[in-house]
Amino acid sequence: MANSVENIEIIPTGKAVGAEIRGVDLSQTLSKGVVEKLTKAWAEHLVLLYRDQDLEDENIVTLSGYFGGHQPAGARQARRQAGIKDAGKDSSTDMRINYVSNLDDEGNPTQHNRGIGSHEIRWHSDNTYVEVPPTGTLLWAEIIPDDNTGNTMFCNQYRAYEELPDDLKEAIEGKHMMHDGSRTTANRVHPHRTMPQSQDDIDGPIHPMVRIHPLTGKRALFLGRRWDYPSTYIVEMRNDEGEALMDKLWAHATQDKYVWVHQWRPKDILQWDNRSVMHRRTAVNPNQKRILHRTLIKGDPVISAWGNNAATQ
Ligand SMILES: [Fe+2]
Repeated sequence: MANSVENIEIIPTGKAVGAEIRGVDLSQTLSKGVVEKLTKAWAEHLVLLYRDQDLEDENIVTLSGYFGGHQPAGARQARRQAGIKDAGKDSSTDMRINYVSNLDDEGNPTQHNRGIGSHEIRWHSDNTYVEVPPTGTLLWAEIIPDDNTGNTMFCNQYRAYEELPDDLKEAIEGKHMMHDGSRTTANRVHPHRTMPQSQDDIDGPIHPMVRIHPLTGKRALFLGRRWDYPSTYIVEMRNDEGEALMDKLWAHATQDKYVWVHQWRPKDILQWDNRSVMHRRTAVNPNQKRILHRTLIKGDPVISAWGNNAATQ
């Protein structure tokens, strides 16, 4: 049955972020009206969940096209530029799609592989180590462990900013962070980089600590990613004070009251907004297969809250 605006149901999770969308088949064409409705729901709920979607990779790429197109994954670009070929069962030959899997080169589940394996993944926003991070991410589940491991969690960074204590708000006003581009989300050093020994070795894009969402005009805390020192740092505060401030910001931004936890089922697809949420993954059972297919939604340049076009709130 063709998709129609009338059939779409939006069911909020009741948490600080997220809504399930029912009544749409993402393997079929989406009309302008349907895309508008989904775009509005996405802006309001930040993460959309669609269940029971029978999708091919081409469908996922097509879906990204409705929301701005796709862009290659930063880590994969870095590997490619370093002349390292993708290999193994956990890699796709299509640069538009990445497989997020815990399989080894023989196709067996494992703790460590060339990607993120079965590890817990700490809070981050995707690919903030590139100049123009993706607007959002599409992640479709092919195979999921049956024991509730490998959950994906999201936290609402609009609310984290709105409810930031005044002293912290003042402390970050006008400030920027150097996002550590040496490592992937799995804390692996890119093949063309070395492990940083001091802040002088950190090289990546500089982003404002608060960004403005182009659709909603709202401010969101923009922390990105951070590993153990030396890593991402506050450009205007390259000292212990900056480290202590970042500790407080991360602790504030990831409080339970801002979080929604998604327990995956096969054929789920999530669509999340990297401009207004961070996400993390709980550890995966390394004895069970987990394979998801990911496409990054093409980004627009980060809009700084410190610029001339600052939002009114
Ligand atoms: Fe991620």
